[in-house]
Amino acid sequence: MLPRRSATEAFEKVPTLVFPNSATAAAELAGEVRQIIETKNKAGQPAVLGMATGSTPVPFYRELIRLHKQEGLSFKNVITFNLDEYYGLKGDHPESYGCFMADQLFNHIDIPEENIHIPKGTIASDQVFAHCREYEEAIDAVGGIDLQILGIGRTGHIGFNEPGSSRESLTRRITLDRITRQDAASDFRGEENVPHFAITMGVGTILRAKKLVLMAWGENKAGIVAKAVEGAVTEAISASFLQEHPNARFFIDTGASRELTRFKLPWLVGPVSWTPRETQRAVVWQSKKAHRPVLKLVDEDYNENGLSDLLSEQGPAYQLNIRIFNRLQNTITGWPGGKPNADDTYRPERAGPFPKRCLVFSPEPQDAIVSIGATIDRLREQGHDVHVVTLTSGSLRVADSEADKFASTLLELGATAMDSAQWKEQTDYARELVRLIEEKGEFGEDPPVLRRLKALILRGELRDAAHAVGLGQEKVVFLDLPFYEKGRYRRFVSTNEDTAAVAAHIRGFKPHQIYLTGDAADPSSVPAIGFKVVEAALKECEQEEWFGSCSFWLYRGKEKSFEPHEIDMTVPLSPAQLERKERALMRYQSLSSLELGAPQANRDAAKQYDALGLAEYEAMECFQRWKRTH
Ligand code: GLP
Repeated sequence: MLPRRSATEAFEKVPTLVFPNSATAAAELAGEVRQIIETKNKAGQPAVLGMATGSTPVPFYRELIRLHKQEGLSFKNVITFNLDEYYGLKGDHPESYGCFMADQLFNHIDIPEENIHIPKGTIASDQVFAHCREYEEAIDAVGGIDLQILGIGRTGHIGFNEPGSSRESLTRRITLDRITRQDAASDFRGEENVPHFAITMGVGTILRAKKLVLMAWGENKAGIVAKAVEGAVTEAISASFLQEHPNARFFIDTGASRELTRFKLPWLVGPVSWTPRETQRAVVWQSKKAHRPVLKLVDEDYNENGLSDLLSEQGPAYQLNIRIFNRLQNTITGWPGGKPNADDTYRPERAGPFPKRCLVFSPEPQDAIVSIGATIDRLREQGHDVHVVTLTSGSLRVADSEADKFASTLLELGATAMDSAQWKEQTDYARELVRLIEEKGEFGEDPPVLRRLKALILRGELRDAAHAVGLGQEKVVFLDLPFYEKGRYRRFVSTNEDTAAVAAHIRGFKPHQIYLTGDAADPSSVPAIGFKVVEAALKECEQEEWFGSCSFWLYRGKEKSFEPHEIDMTVPLSPAQLERKERALMRYQSLSSLELGAPQANRDAAKQYDALGLAEYEAMECFQRWKRTH
């Protein structure tokens, strides 16, 4: 059943349905699509669907395929129009939206080819204008779009209507925003390979659809979703125009709903059950709002900002402040593995056993050191046995030019060796690699030997970075999970094989502490899939003796950092410790700008604690206790 709209949604200017996860939302939407198809077909008309690309609609497409294969839903009388297409990519480029749609949907259902419409990204420049006009006409000719599916980009775009697109805009060629190109960088193995242009339906075209559903998953989308749903209608966020459509809805998961007022500031929209976490959230918010540390908040602050209810339950301010201050204070520890022989009543981690076996899962080889490198350093220094376990090889991140550099160096080394004959085999191997890179061209699939080389390059980088935080080679484990080796970004699918590999490792190590990430990430991302795999693997270990005393700590990678009220443990870093982490990060060749910004995010985390009136540190790495019932 659909979640119902209530008074708590007062700030939302477009109906927004929050689902526990993307699969549930996708099933609901696919059910609606089925009804549209059946109703229209009964009336002897084709159903006209507007399709979207990106990772967001993938679960929805999987559900449509299931309905077709298992429940006999036919698409013979369905006409589709895709929102957009990159301009300038070859038609068979794996990242072209044409290929994407074929892979993800059209090849698996019975839609006739002539019913599929996708803007042509290969059309000559002087014909673009006419092509766009014809696209509009083709939509009108079939009576308009019955249901348009949408995702949302980080700039708030729908289709590729980047900031500045007018409400009246029609199908046209546009220039992609820098942020959009950055977001597509991993798909194209580097930002420099991402096309600069695209053809997209306009905002006006999209708003002509009879029904619209915008989907968004994961915390990365939370900020832009809140702006589109609750903010002003503006050309700066084309998704905000949905507010003006009589039949538009947002379908989002809990991660993407996090910045909506009803979840972020629930006391502004209705009664709140004041759990410790909610209380902490309110006090932290009040402190930020008043620009005063927690201990300086007074009754009036709470009363004047919708928190009188909290005050009457837990006040006066003086007592409430002290309680929350102490709770925040207790999250700070220089002993992430627990302090041996100390009273641990108020410490985030228990003192014993000492030393602990600590297992740090890193979805890709860079994630763990980027996110919690200094904590790893600290754990090791304090005598714990720390293993970094990299779930995937990360080889899709490595540019051909990087692989070519290594292969060419090897080639040259062999050729210039004193006794080059002795190195003949290796030299031939290197020559073959150089040839393969050239032969496959910029976007061709990597042959296995090249993927291997790319994986080894990243292994080297991680070993080097781990060494910089004091971990020896033997403490770094590479699982190279099959889901990654067999997939592409945004389209990975994990299997039992992945779970079994992770479970075997966990069993062998019998950890006292596990650090993991990806719970809040975009569900199609490597961290999110990695998280699900680890979660399933842990389920298999549940009955084992060591399991009951294992503690679990979540960390955040590329997604939004924890807010102070969400933190259960924070490890403060001195300037020297942060510098050591920064030096470790310099060992990586392939970090994105977001990853390079990790030390700054650590500094910002410390500033937040400082502003709340807690001790002023240079930087912090933050963690949340993972309750496995989540
Ligand atoms: C691209 C597409 C959009 C899509 C957006 C978000 O910009 N043109 O239609 O909504 O990416 O992608 P994802 O769903 O992968 O987050």
